[in-house]
Amino acid sequence: MCGIVGYAGGRRAVDVLLDGLRRLEYRGYDSAGVAISYEGLKIFKDVGQLSKIQSNIPNWEGGMGIGHTRWATCGRPSKENSHPFTDCSGRIALVHNGIIENHLSLRKQLEEEGHKFTSETDTEVLVHLMERHYDGNTHAALVTALSEVKGTYAVAAMAEGDDHIVVARKENPLVIGVGVGENILASDVTAILNLTSRVIYLEEGDSAIVSANDITIFDAQGNRAKRDPTTITWSIEDAEKGGFEHYMLKEIYEQPTAIHNSLLGNLDEIYAGAIIPDIDVTSVKLVACGSSSHAAMVGKYIIESMAKLPTTVELASEYRYSPGTGENPFTILLTQSGETADTLAAAREARRRGCRTMSVTNMVGSTISRETDHVFYTNAGPETSVAATKSYITQLMAMYLLGLRLGTMRQALDRAEVRNISTELRSMPRYVNGVLDEASEIENAVEMLASANHAFYLGRNINYPTMLEGALKLKEVSYIHAEGYAAGELKHGPLALLDATTPVVAACVNDHTREKMLGNISEVAARDSPVLGIGLEDDRDLAAITDIKINIPTVSPILSPVPLTVVLQLIAYYVAKKRGCPIDRPRNLAKSVTVE
Ligand code: G6P
Repeated sequence: MCGIVGYAGGRRAVDVLLDGLRRLEYRGYDSAGVAISYEGLKIFKDVGQLSKIQSNIPNWEGGMGIGHTRWATCGRPSKENSHPFTDCSGRIALVHNGIIENHLSLRKQLEEEGHKFTSETDTEVLVHLMERHYDGNTHAALVTALSEVKGTYAVAAMAEGDDHIVVARKENPLVIGVGVGENILASDVTAILNLTSRVIYLEEGDSAIVSANDITIFDAQGNRAKRDPTTITWSIEDAEKGGFEHYMLKEIYEQPTAIHNSLLGNLDEIYAGAIIPDIDVTSVKLVACGSSSHAAMVGKYIIESMAKLPTTVELASEYRYSPGTGENPFTILLTQSGETADTLAAAREARRRGCRTMSVTNMVGSTISRETDHVFYTNAGPETSVAATKSYITQLMAMYLLGLRLGTMRQALDRAEVRNISTELRSMPRYVNGVLDEASEIENAVEMLASANHAFYLGRNINYPTMLEGALKLKEVSYIHAEGYAAGELKHGPLALLDATTPVVAACVNDHTREKMLGNISEVAARDSPVLGIGLEDDRDLAAITDIKINIPTVSPILSPVPLTVVLQLIAYYVAKKRGCPIDRPRNLAKSVTVE
């Protein structure tokens, strides 16, 4: 997904911008570019990696500039379609994240007025609109240009001769880092942490003028606005690899800490209103995309069993266009980034329908956190690898905490039950460490998957969605086609696909579906599929019917998704490693999908 960085200060802007953009690489990009205020306005952009740009860029001094990494949406990846864009006179440069929906009609008008376009992008209309309105005041030109567009944006622009960058945002994040004698801005806080930890999150509709010594912010109505800086506690090291071969592995190993941080304080405060205050809830809807939707599916089992509340799950991209039933469930939106376009649209739709909303997100100050009635921060810390790992595990923690809270509010759980679940949750970092200790055994076990073209992941009950997540992890990082299936559904079709070349990963825990699950695994083994079973240490029945068995610690069935997920993450990681895949940045995928 696209990234923006801007800088004004005493350092060489090219270096700051390229460094910042490099920290955004994990978001995925196909081209990049910078505009520097140096002897006029200079622009350098190209397709490919930042390293290529770094080696070819002229030796421009200059302490102010804007930069961009592009992930193609409107217009193929090419030098012409890369940002920054400039107007006909070459006096204004602009970078943009988001989508300008009415770009075709605007382009037609502008071309009729004589503007010459050089790209296929929607973004380019913005710089020509600025040119149309520019009379020496760059901020006014940007605000007026934006008033004519329909769509979403985080945008940064600067004009020749200015000592400042102008920015604005709508439905796309933009953060300003506050320095001393220098200021930096970016679409993601990770890009600026090496310069400062004091940041200002612009609010919806805000615009700003950022120079080396000053930041002036305006709200959506154009009035001067005060936005207090927040201090980010993540260190830059937190966001880097810390000795692991890949971010994904580092983030898998950070899970015991992440779990601890996400539970922090909340378990002791369940009765005191941690997570949500006393509210009247009669039904729940969980809405999300990707891995977050699997956490939501696990959440349904948790909330139904702990709180006895009817709970439904919907994909955000479906929910936003669904007809609605007139009922108003408590609607919980799960999103690691807090910026996923479909999930944001779903949050707005839920509010439009009159639902009380809550977001479960990892990003403090993210758009969704500001657009929902309640927020639960998962506190996983920065996640760099595209595949969600620690953010997913902490979403599960949020679901347990929410289940406990709703369960106590509705008196569906008694104090002893709350105490037992809380005690087990507190031990979860230790259980996860136990799984991590088995990593080399898991690495050896994945041989059967590494050469496969297709694989099935089977589970039942609360571990049906866990296996959906396991299959998604494998697909994302190893490029093996994997299907998560509810084991009871196998006989209704997929059994026809099973043979000795199709390995099966099957989860079996000691819940009321255990016998059925063992039966399903036997059916699979009878079709010659190699089976990798994941189950409790002492489950000899499972060991007897599987080719390889990986153990997980003995926890209550409702908590079994946690250790199980960690095994599945390691399986995906080691398969991808054996296949030589670019684990942290899989092809065609992006960490945060801020377009529909
Ligand atoms: C992208 C990421 C996934 C993530 C999904 C939802 O597709 O690659 O890992 O699960 O977006 O992201 P969110 O930030 O809303 O949880």
